[in-house]
Amino acid sequence: MDPKIRTVAVLGAGIMGNGISQTIAAAGPYLVYMVDVAQAILEQGLESIKKSLGRFTKKGEMTPEESEAIISRITPTTDFEVVQESDLVVEAIPEDLALKIETFQKLNDLCPTHAIMGTNTSSLPITSIAAATERPDMVIGIHFMNPVPVMKGVEVIKGLMTSPETVQATVNFVESIGKIPCLALDYAGFINSRLLSIYINEAVLAVMDGNPPEEVDKGMIHTANMPMGPLKLLDLIGLDVHLKIMDILRNEYGDRFLAAPLTRQMFRAGHLGRKTGRGFYQY
Ligand code: CAA
Repeated sequence: MDPKIRTVAVLGAGIMGNGISQTIAAAGPYLVYMVDVAQAILEQGLESIKKSLGRFTKKGEMTPEESEAIISRITPTTDFEVVQESDLVVEAIPEDLALKIETFQKLNDLCPTHAIMGTNTSSLPITSIAAATERPDMVIGIHFMNPVPVMKGVEVIKGLMTSPETVQATVNFVESIGKIPCLALDYAGFINSRLLSIYINEAVLAVMDGNPPEEVDKGMIHTANMPMGPLKLLDLIGLDVHLKIMDILRNEYGDRFLAAPLTRQMFRAGHLGRKTGRGFYQY
């Protein structure tokens, strides 16, 4: 199989979808459709891309012309049928298995036969999503990290039925956009979410024990060389996203993934982190 990936459809223009669209368009030869159900989300997504590109141009790592060229390679659209023209799909819609299955059934009906159908899920089973299609060998996990334009690693997750050819083509693609493919098997949470969620949860438990968030974060930055503290990272990921991952992993592995009660309480209060202006910190 030679997928000759040129056109990529990214489904979802939220924080992950717009970061993925930007990153793929920035790599050069690719044309990107950034697809979402609402025009307003597409506009917000495009704004985020411009803001992120602005950081690179401000630092002199990119010229304004290069930034314009990247934007010109991204076509925002509400027309799902553009997947018919795509060699690769990266789905980054909300983490809801029923919604993903419905979306992959539509992809199954519309995508060209050579197209790889990827999902950016952080914790849902690739094998279940693949099993809902008639070509499970072409379905794979392509899990980008937030903030996508700066994070190097991308998890490539092989479902039970994903073919070696699909894995290889995906690895090649990830390398072609300047990222580092990290292979993981399709067990809940793969590698990143499985390890990171326990670490973050323990940080919230430490806060419940009475440790100030600033001290927990400072401790992990300076005693373990983490790039940012776990609570600031939780605010970046979003408490809602983290809680969902914890619940999925608890269902799979048991109570070692029991979410700290404070996370749930803050979630109920709507203190979801950066996106709502308040989490463990104020923004
Ligand atoms: N676009 C472009 N550039 C960006 C950016 C963006 N969205 N966000 C940050 N940057 C750049 C900044 O411009 C800055 O560049 P210079 O160093 O060249 O000046 C650099 O990244 C660092 O940014 P800041 O100085 O603002 O802040 P920082 O030093 O704290 O770095 C960080 C920010 C890169 C996010 C770093 O703290 C980090 O690596 N944190 C860990 C992030 C992480 O673990 N992500 C994975 C989360 S898990 C996940 O995403 C999976 C899931 O499914 C839940």
